[in-house]
Amino acid sequence: MILDRQGGTEMLGNTYSVETLNKAYRKSIEKTYNSNLSTDYTEKIEALGKSFNYSSNSDRYWSEPELSIFYGTPLYEQASISQKLALNHLYWAWQYSHAANTEASTVFYNQVTAGVFAKVEGYETLCQNLLHETQQEIFHMNAFHKIGYQTKLALLGKAGLGNPLYKQSNNKPKFNLGLASNLLENDRVSNFCQNSQENSFRFVTNLMLGNGRAYYSDYLKNLETGSIPTSRGGLGGLVFPSAALSKFLTINWGSSPFLASQYYTLRMLGNMSLKIYEHRYFKYFKDLQKQKEIVPEPTAVSYYHLLDEAFHTTISQTIAREVSQDFEATANCYEKYLANLTVYLTQKSILSGLAGGLIAVFRQEIDLLLLSYYKLLKSPVFNMPTEEALQWMEKCLCQEHEGFHANLKYHQRLHLDLCNLCDRLNYLWPVNREMRLMAAGGSIDRAIQTNTKALKQFASAIAY
Ligand SMILES: [Fe+2]
Ligand SMILES: [Fe+2]
Repeated sequence: MILDRQGGTEMLGNTYSVETLNKAYRKSIEKTYNSNLSTDYTEKIEALGKSFNYSSNSDRYWSEPELSIFYGTPLYEQASISQKLALNHLYWAWQYSHAANTEASTVFYNQVTAGVFAKVEGYETLCQNLLHETQQEIFHMNAFHKIGYQTKLALLGKAGLGNPLYKQSNNKPKFNLGLASNLLENDRVSNFCQNSQENSFRFVTNLMLGNGRAYYSDYLKNLETGSIPTSRGGLGGLVFPSAALSKFLTINWGSSPFLASQYYTLRMLGNMSLKIYEHRYFKYFKDLQKQKEIVPEPTAVSYYHLLDEAFHTTISQTIAREVSQDFEATANCYEKYLANLTVYLTQKSILSGLAGGLIAVFRQEIDLLLLSYYKLLKSPVFNMPTEEALQWMEKCLCQEHEGFHANLKYHQRLHLDLCNLCDRLNYLWPVNREMRLMAAGGSIDRAIQTNTKALKQFASAIAY
């Protein structure tokens, strides 16, 4: 018997004793950790980030043209060579700004979950590995930020860097978009309210888990501010846009060994969403090398990042599939419900759409995505007046074109990969195991309908 949940008092709940010595995955974790330690990919990413200079990389594509904003749209067809290059570079900058924000939450949750695993005997190497990954992510984020910032500054100017949601006119936000009010509302919440809210969440979590206090992550316990941070960007910000939900889940992931391991299913959904386009950069790097061509620095960063992340993916997959089984048999209904809810929300928010202007992006064309397209069309790259920008957005997002079909292929491929991952997770509901929400989102007609409605609202917000 591998897992033994011994009875404790009702107040203290149960305790786990997991024998992992003979488990096959233990060897896989050790091997992956040692292989990761022996490489220098992170150092290469760091050096590339430090030496990056946009003007030295501006005259060539960083990937095949397919990875360009608006690829396959009528706008792309009539764009000049320099505009096409800019769209190719900005695709990298946008995608990796998003990746950097996602990795910021990885840094946080690696430590939160390592704090839980540390309380169960047998996971020492896993914890060391998670902390090593955390260090690597910090170097990744720095390189992504540096390259993304310089690229956006060179192409879009300073106006392209700021957040127009906060541009003030008579002390009112310029755009009346939902996200703006969320952010402003969060800023008004006092520390007192935050602490009361977190205490209530802890109380509910302990009540539902029975043993939440026994495994409560030391990392969370030791947070100096006493208040739990929340994701405002990256995948976390998209999937759990409410600060309250994000905190509630953090407390649960930081209290239950089963939920801590299940969190890595979500991580895998994120990793594989990144990998589906990063692999194209990897292949482009290899092709350039073979042809003895110069490799642009951002392409090289993507190449080494994919190699670094391959270790992280192996570990995340092992935790999601194998380690979770150590705790699954004794997980209660509440834990399984929460695990399913988070996968469901992830499908709904980041996998069930089909972007018309960004290959390998499957969230819906709402709020920030529309705003980003709009800012790009108004920027020095296109320099369009408002009306013309909105007309092009209509043509690119609300009418069928080659870009939608290209993106649909990526969506279908990712759907298959994610079904392979989730199919083995017995605790998942069929809607999650078969990724049904994602499958339903693989429809060009549906994407066009959603975009048409969202663009109409966006155009009225601009007029306001
Ligand atoms: Fe990374
Ligand atoms: Fe990673």
